This record gives sequence, C-alpha cells and structure tokens, in this order.
Amino acid sequence: MKPLIRSLILISSVIVPSLGMANEDIVTSAHPAHIATLAASCAACHGTLGNAVISGSVIDAVALAGESSEYLEQRLLDFRAGTRESTVMHHHAKGLTLEEIHQLALFFSSQKTEAAVTPVPQKFKVMNHE
Ligand code: HEC
Repeated sequence: MKPLIRSLILISSVIVPSLGMANEDIVTSAHPAHIATLAASCAACHGTLGNAVISGSVIDAVALAGESSEYLEQRLLDFRAGTRESTVMHHHAKGLTLEEIHQLALFFSSQKTEAAVTPVPQKFKVMNHE
C-alpha cells in the first residue's frame, strides 16, 4: 500500500468516528440531562419536580417548584458557604458546582406548582365466605 493511502486511512480512522458525535453528546455540568438527574436526587425530600407534600415528618423540606430562581440560587449558595443554618442542605450544596446550582435554580423555578393532595384513606371491605 502506498504510504500516502496508508496515512489517509490512518487519519480518517481518527477523524471520521469523532465526526459522528453531535455537540449534544458531550455532557457538561449545564447539560439538561445532567441537571434533570441531579434534580431527581432532590425529589426524595423536595417532591417530584420540586412539589413537596408537607408531611409534618422529621425532615420537612419545602416545595421548590415555581420559586424564583434568584431565591433558590441564593439559598443554595448560602448552604454551600455555610452561612445559612441547615440540617442536611449544606451537605447537598457542597457537592454542587456553581454552574449546577445556577442550573438547578432555573430548573426548579420553571417547574409547575402542583397543589398538594392528601391521599384519601382507603377502606377495604372484608369478605367473609363461611
Ligand atoms: C435528605 C433530604 C433533602 C434532599 C435530598 C435535598 N434537600 Fe433541600 N432541603 C432539605 C431540608 C430539610 C431543607 C431545610 C434546610 C435544612 O434543614 O437543611 C432544605 C432546603 C432547601 C432549599 C431552601 C428552601 C427554602 O425556601 O428555604 C433549597 C433551595 C433546597 N433545599 C434545594 C435542594 C436541591 C436543589 C436539592 C438536590 C440537589 C436538595 N435540596 C436535596 C432536605 C433535602
């Protein structure tokens, strides 16, 4: 094989596969998929998409959906810096970058507020087949 053809094959084996990669495939800390994943980790306490159902339980995390992004961002920055007292949030906030905090604040502020619905207790009819 001629050296020129061999070099062209070598070069194309490096360049061509990377051409197939769209910009969206590169996950950065501001990528919507990354922020949605992070936001899912908040759901255990702040409810689905930030709509917490205030339960009166030990950990009473408030709803984040629909709050202003400036407010949410400032709270998270204060938790991160340790200037705002908290039980758990300083741990969560310290694990976030400034960009992730900014994006999470935008994410939760753009979520629709859902009215909290208290589930109706279910009654089961006991059937006695004697
Ligand atoms: C283990 C439960 C838990 C998880 C998980 C959690 N939080 Fe919290 N969050 C709380 C509690 C409890 C508070 C009240 C402050 C405190 O005691 O830490 C709070 C407060 C906040 C506040 C301030 C709300 C206000 O109006 O004062 C923001 C903003 C917040 N959390 C955002 C987040 C984000 C974003 C995540 C996910 C990255 C997250 N939280 C994950 C429990 C949690």
